[in-house]
Amino acid sequence: MADTTRAAFPKGDRPWSDLEREMRQRTSDDADWRAGRTAIFFFMADQEAYEVGKRAFMAFFSENALGAARAYPGLAAMEREVLDYGLDLLSAPEGGRGVFTTGGTESILLATKAARERHRALKSHNPGAPLNIVMPVTGHPAFDKAAILMDVEVRRAPLDPDRRVNVEALRNLIDENTMMVVASAPCFPHGVIDPIGEVSAVAEAAGVWMHVDACVGGWIAPWFERIGRGTPVFDFRHSGVRSISADLHKFGFAPKPSSTVFFREGEDLDRSTFRLGYWPSGMYTTATMSGSRPGAAVAAAWAVINHLGVEGYTRAARNLSAMVDRYVEGITAIEGLELWAKPDVTIINFGSNAFDIYAVAEQMRAKKWIPGLTSAPRGMHTMLSMQHEPAREQYLADLRESVAAVRAAKSKSDLTATY
Ligand SMILES: Cc1ncc(COP(=O)(O)O)c(C=O)c1O
Repeated sequence: MADTTRAAFPKGDRPWSDLEREMRQRTSDDADWRAGRTAIFFFMADQEAYEVGKRAFMAFFSENALGAARAYPGLAAMEREVLDYGLDLLSAPEGGRGVFTTGGTESILLATKAARERHRALKSHNPGAPLNIVMPVTGHPAFDKAAILMDVEVRRAPLDPDRRVNVEALRNLIDENTMMVVASAPCFPHGVIDPIGEVSAVAEAAGVWMHVDACVGGWIAPWFERIGRGTPVFDFRHSGVRSISADLHKFGFAPKPSSTVFFREGEDLDRSTFRLGYWPSGMYTTATMSGSRPGAAVAAAWAVINHLGVEGYTRAARNLSAMVDRYVEGITAIEGLELWAKPDVTIINFGSNAFDIYAVAEQMRAKKWIPGLTSAPRGMHTMLSMQHEPAREQYLADLRESVAAVRAAKSKSDLTATY
């Protein structure tokens, strides 16, 4: 039963020392992000980059990026530069533009809005039927959020055995009311990059907007490609790609909340921009869905990118890929465990045909890990980042022990996968 007691409005007048003590005490059982025990939620390249992000964030703690253009031209220039870095990294052509947002979900909302406006402006469609978005079953729920807000239908295509979208099935879902086709780089559940080139060709042939959701891979997968990891190209080099979402607060290693969305053509940025002319306070324009937003996030992203630069991201890609390989080796060395997909970047998803993986996850929970789960197929899931490296030996030892216990007891679990 949920606790329905309502907290009374505080009396106040409590000093920071007192508040800090209470907050520390109340969260003492919360997961410690430093310990690498959560499957997701926190991202790290190295300690120094983490400190740079934190210091820059605190230094610009009070600036409101809503007012960047009017009050903080220095901050506005940093924001523009961060977007330029992203356009460059993702091989956007001349004329490409971007928006600095508060997260992957907001980036996706903006791209979806732009796609809808373009469809409305340029395409004739069946007005009796709702517009639709066509995407793989693995596409992020942020598109469903956007679809609810915009009264749009979501159509989901099944996967091939390698867990990338089946392009033929995706193509068959497209009709005259399709305003957007989506593919992921990589998808969250299985960590694989969809066949972006093939989907791009399908989208172009159908004359439909293609969005690449690179919230996870956007700021790191290009560096994986550059170190010769064989990571597939997913960006504007594919001519059908009109927009890309790429989170800074994931593998850009910047503090939350920070993400970016990029458009191949500047006019599409105009389509995602909000403008209201008749308000008593005058013309109100935001490129974002949010109004006020932290200038701290902009400053911190600028600082982290300038701190890491080409060398730092290359190093991060090397460190991450070596760690992913070590995790994969350790996991697949445990009898009965297998990968559900070959990771393209940093997400691993594994399970078993020999025993109930959710029962293993329960054992891991009892050992104070916070595992991620996938439901189809039943699996465990982790988005690896460098805080997971010092935790690796312990994780694998606990996983071995958990598997052994589940095999011995033939235990089953009635857990359901919740994000
Ligand atoms: C592939 C993908 N897209 C979008 C998102 C949404 O990002 P956010 O949680 O920053 O809104 C996530 C989050 O994990 C993701 O993995």
